[in-house]
Amino acid sequence: MKGVLLAGGTGSRLYPLTRITNKHLLPIYDRPMIAYAVEALVGAGISEIMVVTGGTHAGEFLRLLSNGEDHGVDRLLYAYQDRPGGIAEALGLAERFVGDDDVLVLLADNVFGSSIRPTVERFAAQAKGARLVLAPVAEPEHLRHLGVPDLAPDGRILRIVEKPEHPPSPYCVTGLYCYDPSVFSVIATLEPSARGELEITDVNNHYVAVGEMSYDVLEGFWGDAGESIDAYYAVNDHVRRHGANRPA
Ligand code: G1P
Repeated sequence: MKGVLLAGGTGSRLYPLTRITNKHLLPIYDRPMIAYAVEALVGAGISEIMVVTGGTHAGEFLRLLSNGEDHGVDRLLYAYQDRPGGIAEALGLAERFVGDDDVLVLLADNVFGSSIRPTVERFAAQAKGARLVLAPVAEPEHLRHLGVPDLAPDGRILRIVEKPEHPPSPYCVTGLYCYDPSVFSVIATLEPSARGELEITDVNNHYVAVGEMSYDVLEGFWGDAGESIDAYYAVNDHVRRHGANRPA
């Protein structure tokens, strides 16, 4: 299984911090944010990784991660997204790198308290399709900034709604996605959303519609450090006290 870390975007919700650097290079406790995402993938046994980034600070990722050896990565590649075209478009840049393999995609501002290895193992045992990780989120105001699944009484995902005014369940879709190689033909069929981007939620809704979407529900800590300045500090506080990516 290949790993793709998505580390582009303008980081506008963290302005003005992100006017002078890429969001994923901001500190979380004692390391730049992206170091936790690399650690999450390596800790799950994934050692071939592509970092997709963009903007004016892309070169700093090479200085930080180099060829990956200090981070336990066997093969580290980079791709450059030359316009903010959305998460699904950024993933599309990894098509040749992933080839016929399965792929684990992680938004590099998502920080997990515990190892993501159990999800990777369950996806490896899954015949095809996609797998998500849902996290319980109590506050509707928080859910309005995220992707939220509408769940049937038997637990099946009926659809995922991006940034819903009225969240259909108390769970969010975290930024950790497992796909089989059909994901690239799905991306090729997407139309830009109202904000002009190719949305990862549209990719996920494709797998929901064809009955090939599975999911896990997260038990430990999860945070999207790019969601807001408060979320950024909540992730910092958690990591400082408890660490991240702790072995299951
Ligand atoms: C993205 C996804 C959203 C998901 C979130 C998790 O949102 O579109 O479905 O819940 O990541 O971090 P964004 O952070 O790009 O607004």
